[in-house]
Amino acid sequence: MKKINVEEIKNKERFQNIKYLTKEEVKTALDFVITKIDENMEYFGEDKFPSASSINGVYDKKINKDWTNGFWTGMLWLAYEYTGKEKYKNLAEKHVVNFKQRLDDRIVLEHHDLGFLYSLSTVAAYKLTGDEFAKKVSIEATEYLIRRYQEKGGFIQAWGPLGEEKSYRLIIDCLLNIPLLYWTSEETGDKKYYDMAYTHYKSTINNIIREDASTYHTYYFNPETGNPVKGVTRQGYSDESCWARGQAWGVYGLPLTYKYTKDQDALNLYPALTNYFLNRLPKDLICYWDLIFTDKDNQVRDSSSAAIAACGIFEMNKYYEGPDKEIYLKAAHGMLRELINNYTTKDEKSSNGVLMHSVYAYVDNLGIDECSTWGDYFYMEALIRLVKDWNLYW
Ligand code: GLY
Repeated sequence: MKKINVEEIKNKERFQNIKYLTKEEVKTALDFVITKIDENMEYFGEDKFPSASSINGVYDKKINKDWTNGFWTGMLWLAYEYTGKEKYKNLAEKHVVNFKQRLDDRIVLEHHDLGFLYSLSTVAAYKLTGDEFAKKVSIEATEYLIRRYQEKGGFIQAWGPLGEEKSYRLIIDCLLNIPLLYWTSEETGDKKYYDMAYTHYKSTINNIIREDASTYHTYYFNPETGNPVKGVTRQGYSDESCWARGQAWGVYGLPLTYKYTKDQDALNLYPALTNYFLNRLPKDLICYWDLIFTDKDNQVRDSSSAAIAACGIFEMNKYYEGPDKEIYLKAAHGMLRELINNYTTKDEKSSNGVLMHSVYAYVDNLGIDECSTWGDYFYMEALIRLVKDWNLYW
């Protein structure tokens, strides 16, 4: 692959001086998340889910038809693991049936986000309870997802009609969808899913990462030849800027592929992408929604990117043994402490979200400076990782 620059981490002292979160800080933060989950279980009931992002801090009730519904179910599974209380498991198990129904009825499944949906619902169910039905549904979801695999270019097409030129692209977010394929290979013994996931990952890292270690959001391929064409944004500020959540998906996507494949490039690229991310954090360590912005630009932050990046750092910390290992860990603790202290809804009684100040799609005027279901989920996942040796749902 092309040579990717690894920036030195700038201003290292600001990370070096961070103290690790104490068990007490983490427990208090998790207990707050649990109170929100308890309230929301009543509000959403058995078959409704929070909208992707909030409006004025409040999630609406929706049926299971968005790419984001798995995050609520994933939080229920995390709550079950954290508290041991059956009520979380009972509701999450009802969701498993709901996710099976969604698959059977083909409800808004013509996109690549089946990994987000099924890893956090049915795969989690199987891993935690051994439920064979949940395992079967997960494998069915994988089968549905691989219909989007394009031999020409070697990638899973994110959106749009299959093979259509203006939709013939991969997106960096999909690094979180391919663990469903790796997992299915492990469970079935059929390597074809692994091969598709791994080829998709290679097509991603070979194209979507710029030489300076920033990332494009999406990358087009030629449907006739499979040749790479160009990088284009969908949710970032511009084609040549670096959408913060895209970079965060990269920071977490690399360790997820490393976990399953032990691919050396994933390990080597991790400091490149992570340093680029860390070097563009404002003083409070919570990034603006696009990394092009600085304090002078008067832009909103995307707290969800901080939570995602923290999960990525915690995961890669299991494998990475480079000189900045401790800096990364402290950076993740620092970001998480800032989220705990200044980004949750603990003083916003009218909100039913957990983490404020997330941005869904600025360019679409969607979920700007709001709670997001993935922000809440990854915040909780990051916290759970600090209280137990957490077995990933991914
Ligand atoms: N995967 C869509 C997003 O990050 O907004």
